[in-house]
Amino acid sequence: MYVLGIESSCDETGVALVHSARGLLAHALHSQVDMHAAYGGVVPELASRDHIRRLLPLTRQVLGEAGIAVDRVDAVAYTEGPGLAGALLVGAGAAHGLAYALGVPVVGVHHLEGHLLSPLLADPAPAFPFVALLVSGGHTQLMRVGGVGDYELLGETVDDAAGEAFDKTAKLLGLGYPGGPALARLADSGTTGRFKLPRPMIASDDLDFSFSGLKTAVATVARARTLEESDRADLAAEFQAAVVDVLVAKALGAVDRAGVPRLVVAGGVGANRNLRARLSAAASARGIEVFYPPLEFCTDNGAMIAFAGAMRVAALGPAGAFSVKPRWELASLEMP
Ligand code: KG4
Ligand code: ZN
Repeated sequence: MYVLGIESSCDETGVALVHSARGLLAHALHSQVDMHAAYGGVVPELASRDHIRRLLPLTRQVLGEAGIAVDRVDAVAYTEGPGLAGALLVGAGAAHGLAYALGVPVVGVHHLEGHLLSPLLADPAPAFPFVALLVSGGHTQLMRVGGVGDYELLGETVDDAAGEAFDKTAKLLGLGYPGGPALARLADSGTTGRFKLPRPMIASDDLDFSFSGLKTAVATVARARTLEESDRADLAAEFQAAVVDVLVAKALGAVDRAGVPRLVVAGGVGANRNLRARLSAAASARGIEVFYPPLEFCTDNGAMIAFAGAMRVAALGPAGAFSVKPRWELASLEMP
């Protein structure tokens, strides 16, 4: 079965084609980063308009690269939410229009389920059950994943998401948008320990996170002195170390709590090399296996939506309703 996947929840237009037995056949991505950079962040209306421009050319490109004619597509999956309402509507409209024209089912996919299942695109893929650390621009969650559609929330951020903290701190340090990767690059040239930053909630009994105080602590340092280039690098390194310390501690705590020795890392912050190195080292010392999606599938992409859609579509039957859900709890998902 050929499943076309469409991602348009934020500032990336992603399209991919998967085959239920053969896996990922082709994928294409257009990032709007350059367009939004001038404004220092995502402008929702510009995002929606750009998705409209990109979606069909990317779809043609993906089908062309896979060598599959459009009328061989058996189902169309799209990101139903959470995300920017206007941006989601573009993907929903294209997916429903295409599915209706082809007379095939359409399936709305939860964006975070896409991220969560993206490590299954890697080889080797993790077996169920596993613990997932979901670290994106909008979410920081620990989940116990029993199978597709079986997600139990173990803990989450009480304020900013990890990616959001990276982005806001990058802005404070005068780095452009998107800040996460830029801050990580700056941190590579800095030294930890010269500035002291807190590790919020690291010793709390629960599996929740808090990152907004960390950003405030960086702002306090930045206000108290004129930052030289080496200060900015050291501050970035300490900030990254603080976030990584907390993520590693809580992820290992979640593995203990869930009693499953497998950990999956998903979402844009999962691309952070320092996080990967520290987590892998800490986990292997405890006999825990860690799985990461391929780097290109850490941040938003169509492959994860096509893939999650393919896993759901067989069970779904007739076409789903036309809808988008800008706010949507992942733990509320079930397999139909
Ligand atoms: O999953 P994603 O592409 O989009 C959302 O669903 O939010 O995640 C984007 C987030 C942004 O906050 C970005 O700054 C962060 O992931 N990010 C990183 C890195 N690459 C992307 N944060 C830290 N280090 C990175 N290398
Ligand atoms: Zn995402």
